Amino acid sequence: MFTIKAPAKVNWFLEVKGKRPDGYHELETVMQAVSLFDEISVEDRADGELILTCNIDLGAPEKNLVYRAAELMRQHHAPGRGAQIALNKQIPHGAGLGGGSSDAANALIALNRLWDLHLHKNVLQDIVARVGSDCAFFVEGGTAVCTGRGEIVEQLPDIGVFHLVLLYPNDVCPTPQVYGELSRDLTYSPRNCYLFLPAKMDAPQLASGVFNRLQESALKVSAKLRAAWESTAHEPGVLVRFVSGSGSSVAFLLNDEAAAQQLEDSLTARSLGRAYAVKTLPGGAVWG
Ligand code: C5P
Repeated sequence: MFTIKAPAKVNWFLEVKGKRPDGYHELETVMQAVSLFDEISVEDRADGELILTCNIDLGAPEKNLVYRAAELMRQHHAPGRGAQIALNKQIPHGAGLGGGSSDAANALIALNRLWDLHLHKNVLQDIVARVGSDCAFFVEGGTAVCTGRGEIVEQLPDIGVFHLVLLYPNDVCPTPQVYGELSRDLTYSPRNCYLFLPAKMDAPQLASGVFNRLQESALKVSAKLRAAWESTAHEPGVLVRFVSGSGSSVAFLLNDEAAAQQLEDSLTARSLGRAYAVKTLPGGAVWG
């Protein structure tokens, strides 16, 4: 049996470059893995069944990204193999933190080992990108520029340790609705993320490059997100705050761990939602 930890992500930068003929949006985004984790355990099943269990109600397993990615991997690379997959979810759903996508990618990393397949990372990325646009990033994690629908991943060097707080305002932002809101007005001049990615940055430099084109749309879609946003305009020690991806989470960048812990405590005490002090992660799987 293997256990792997599936990290959440934030987007330091997200620009929507336009609408594509297939209905998706062309993206340029800088994704960052952070230390809030779901946990996935995989165990071999001699009977060839693929069974997914979870600590929360998942609905039909066939619709779950983990199940769909595992089934694709089995069909193409491991016919007849079975697995028991146990998912322990801590990352809020519909939060712009990539939980479901990270679960799918990390389940494939675990199954690759369990079934002794030795598939290259690029193959895992190709499989998992078929179940969701931002899944491929989580095969390596760390920091990466993602383009296309989000599935074209260019790994960046490790940026070092930065401290953040994530605030989930107890509401989901449906991704299609957030993109739909933005699509009403695609007349801006797109920004370019490379302008803010020197090899080594300190926290204020990083803060000055943060941008999310979906932020205003997400704030329109969720009233609870807007309320949380408006209540946190002047938090002590915060270098920048931003909505992560299509929301509904707000991320706060701070100078150090003590400041992050203080903010987590303060947000929790004020019942603004679920708050998590986290740090940035380098690339590579986190085995549990
Ligand atoms: O690929 P995924 O299923 O994660 O995307 C969910 C939804 O988000 C899509 O159906 C689409 O409405 C929107 N989306 C988009 N452009 C992207 C990624 C997602 O419009 N690049």
